Amino acid sequence: MAVAKQDAVEPAPITIRAMQEADLPAVVRIEHTSYAFPWTEGIFRDCLRVNYLCRVVESGAAVVGYGIISVGAGEAHVLNICVAAEHRCRGIGRRLLTHLLQAAARQGGRDALLETRPSNASALRLYRSLGFEQVGTRRGYYQAVVGREDAIVMKRPIE
Ligand SMILES: CC(C)(COP(=O)(O)OP(=O)(O)OC[C@H]1O[C@@H](n2cnc3c(N)ncnc32)[C@H](O)[C@@H]1OP(=O)(O)O)[C@@H](O)C(=O)NCCC(=O)NCCS
Repeated sequence: MAVAKQDAVEPAPITIRAMQEADLPAVVRIEHTSYAFPWTEGIFRDCLRVNYLCRVVESGAAVVGYGIISVGAGEAHVLNICVAAEHRCRGIGRRLLTHLLQAAARQGGRDALLETRPSNASALRLYRSLGFEQVGTRRGYYQAVVGREDAIVMKRPIE
């Protein structure tokens, strides 16, 4: 129905802010429902401890997504970006990644780099639509249900 489609593409009213330790239960819940091989809470804690760019997306009072980038030697490495399943396809991932890249630029990032699974069609489309291009492949980079899966390595300059 036309009305339902319009509702589905309406921009979500969200806030993007720094991740705090108190967010970790919600972050880990989303992580576990989004990935077959999720990060542990300890990995998120380490990212906070070493001051990576860690952001959460809030909708109302609820955390509905998060993203983490490390910046060093002019390179911004997208380590994780995730939106809770029920909030996807509403532009949140694009806004979060754009926000993170701008924050990375302020910390001296000139190029952004990321890895993704070739099977992750939605992530690939998001990255390509934001100007990321494939620059290589890392063989057997990811754990898979059977054996390992390669990673596509993508890169783009940050203005
Ligand atoms: C990848 C992910 C972060 C995208 O978040 P999102 O909020 O749904 O993305 P957006 O709504 O901002 O969509 C941005 C673009 O991504 C692409 N996209 C997003 N979801 C898609 C889907 N289900 N199918 C195809 N393309 C999709 C589209 O190109 C879209 O742009 P468009 O709407 O103008 O066509 C989200 O799907 C997710 O959290 N996935 C699980 C975790 C994950 O795989 N993270 C990436 C690890 S590399």
